[in-house]
Amino acid sequence: MSKHPAWLDNAVFYEIYPQSFCDSNGDGIGDFQGIISRLDYIRDLGCNAIWMNPCFESPFGDAGYDVSDYCKAAPRYGTNDELVRLFDEVHRRGMHILLDLVPGHTSWAHPWFKASMRAEKNAYTDRYVWTDSIWEQPSGYGCLRGISDRDGSCVVNFFSHQPALNYGYLNPERPWQQSMDAQGPQETLSAMMDVMRFWLSRGCDGFRVDMAGSLVKNDADGRGTIALWQKVRAFLDEEFPDAAMISEWGEPDKSLQGGFHMDFLLHFGPSHYNDLFRCEEPYFSSRGKGDVTAFVEKYLENMRRSGQKGLICIPSGNHDMDRLARALHGDELKVAFAFLLTMPGAPFIYYGDEIGMRYVEGLTSVEGGYNRTGSRSPMQWDDTLHAGFSAAPAEKLYIPLDPAADRPTAAAQMEDEHSLRSEVQRLIALRQAHDALQSCGGIDFVHVGYPLMYTRSSSTETLLVIVNPAAQEKRVPSSMRLMECLYQFNGAAVQQGGVMHVPGQSVCVYRV
Ligand code: NOJ
Repeated sequence: MSKHPAWLDNAVFYEIYPQSFCDSNGDGIGDFQGIISRLDYIRDLGCNAIWMNPCFESPFGDAGYDVSDYCKAAPRYGTNDELVRLFDEVHRRGMHILLDLVPGHTSWAHPWFKASMRAEKNAYTDRYVWTDSIWEQPSGYGCLRGISDRDGSCVVNFFSHQPALNYGYLNPERPWQQSMDAQGPQETLSAMMDVMRFWLSRGCDGFRVDMAGSLVKNDADGRGTIALWQKVRAFLDEEFPDAAMISEWGEPDKSLQGGFHMDFLLHFGPSHYNDLFRCEEPYFSSRGKGDVTAFVEKYLENMRRSGQKGLICIPSGNHDMDRLARALHGDELKVAFAFLLTMPGAPFIYYGDEIGMRYVEGLTSVEGGYNRTGSRSPMQWDDTLHAGFSAAPAEKLYIPLDPAADRPTAAAQMEDEHSLRSEVQRLIALRQAHDALQSCGGIDFVHVGYPLMYTRSSSTETLLVIVNPAAQEKRVPSSMRLMECLYQFNGAAVQQGGVMHVPGQSVCVYRV
């Protein structure tokens, strides 16, 4: 685990899906200028860091995760100069911004891929993973075949239009499988480091790395991919020691060994993240029938295996998951946010989750969104035309707006001290006022179930967080000495005769 940049200690991230955030030029799609115009909103919420989804040139078959030029901003968002201006505006406000790096695959429209499809050998022949005959399909992976003069099938990393870049095989078994240190894989890695250098030297603060665990093939336990990222770590330590790196890997014990500073808990993989927010009986539902045990066990195991040092980040959601407000409602959302914002690691808030934006049901897929499209609808700013997102005619909006008459808006919630947004703002302020609640504060679970009780500690203080998502009061034996109450929502727990009485749907934070 490498030492992380100091600003991650108290980072609270806001994820921007640029298509849907704010459209400044009336073409129906969000853009850099739009984002710049809303930076104060993000800062006022209390977030001090941004992760922006891919914003590079792309045919947009997967919302930009199908890059056709890594070093050029997609014209629909603006120019490279405008992107650099966005970095500057973010920094001027004391904030940081991560770009989304997609190292595992490109679009099939990328010039590298077009060159690699040619029958004659050229500089890009080994840039992607190709078999040496059209009749041989790579086992364990999907592939593209019959689209080139080149005789071979090309491994795909995700959708069929996303050919896999070649970082080699851990243990090559077929003649066409290259080892990680063969020339082709080495050149791919060095090209990706050039991309990182390109944006870091222009002022971006680091990367969220897409499918970071997918690079080396036939690498079930991640050994090869970890070794590859260690090389990237050495490069960053040398040239950009302040760059922050967060992986979409979902296995912190591996990613942090690879030199990432942070990893996400995700809706797939072994973390049990879904048990909390997105299953039939989510833990945060007021029905109080969920189960948080497996999540806590896995979380502690991850902490142990990553040496307690790495930042395990729990997002409110992201562009791939159902909106938090699909399964949770009303106060359930406030209680869930209280948990998210009092856990270690840097929290990530998906745009609009802070106002409880809903999953828009029944939408036709847009740009490879499929069922994810409902979580990507335009940000609801206010009650003006198209919720203040865009001045374009309705049919030009990137994705239709939530049609509900009572859809939440940022403007209304900013006026209302009882709104979800106001609660989120208070919780972020609480976090920022106490080291113990921030990324690196310690955590010990005191009671796992309803309520969930955990202490957070720094060198100067220990705080007890008590979260009861269930509608009913809960009682648990406890002998903790409660001192000052620093935060309460729906009443504070009280201790009487060795029993903690925790009101229904409440959260409180005590100094102990
Ligand atoms: C994960 C991204 O979050 C998702 O949106 C994308 O479709 C895949 N990786 C492929 O890049």
